[in-house]
Amino acid sequence: MRASTSATSARPSTGSTVRVSIARSDPASRTEFDVPRIEPMMVLDLLLAIQREQDASLGFRFSCRVGMCGTCTLRMNGRSVLACQTRVTADDDDLRLDPLSGLPVVRDLIVDTTPFFEEWARITPYLVPTTELTEPAVIRPDSSERQVIDPQLDCINCGACYSGCGIADARRDFIGPAALNRALTLIADSRDGARLERLRSVTGDDGAWRCRYIHACTAMCPKGLDPAGAIRKLRRMALEGIPNVDA
Ligand code: SF4
Ligand code: FES
Repeated sequence: MRASTSATSARPSTGSTVRVSIARSDPASRTEFDVPRIEPMMVLDLLLAIQREQDASLGFRFSCRVGMCGTCTLRMNGRSVLACQTRVTADDDDLRLDPLSGLPVVRDLIVDTTPFFEEWARITPYLVPTTELTEPAVIRPDSSERQVIDPQLDCINCGACYSGCGIADARRDFIGPAALNRALTLIADSRDGARLERLRSVTGDDGAWRCRYIHACTAMCPKGLDPAGAIRKLRRMALEGIPNVDA
């Protein structure tokens, strides 16, 4: 948790308030706050106002405030959102904030992301350079591999997709949508020397074939990625081979 003064230059609005119900560490102790509106107001502004003016013990996480670090993810009215990027609108009179589901709660809105990052680590989430490369690789922006990689590249490890995935929630050994999405970007990359091995490791029973295409991951992703689509591509590669790679 980080407590600090909101740096927003927003002006107070006309005196109306937002009622916020927030989950606390003790599930029996949800707390309600009435928070004066400012305009514009993000969910993170609202949490900071509560922490500063009403309850300094409220636990939540944030860091970058620009949608890049993924630490501020929580559920607003049941849906996973980035608190720093989600606006409190004029229609939001009552808000319900909860920690991400499917992960152990550390305190209030703070969850333990260890299960998520353990699955992430399983796929060797970094490029393993091919030994043949002696010169910097050139991959044209219009190449077919770029078309596969680019739309799936902006993952910020926020965990929203993993949290929203009913399969990951039910079976802890599922690699999960974020790690499978990352695996696709590496398997499609011709500079990666571990593509075949990586494809085999993510298309077992605990990987791409475990998915039931509920599509909650894609619906939840605050960066607009399509992990369900990535899983579909991994399945196709498992059946038909990686384009331009001898199986
Ligand atoms: Fe978050 Fe989207 Fe990455 Fe999942 S794929 S961790 S929802 S940014
Ligand atoms: Fe970094 Fe919200 S604080 S994504």
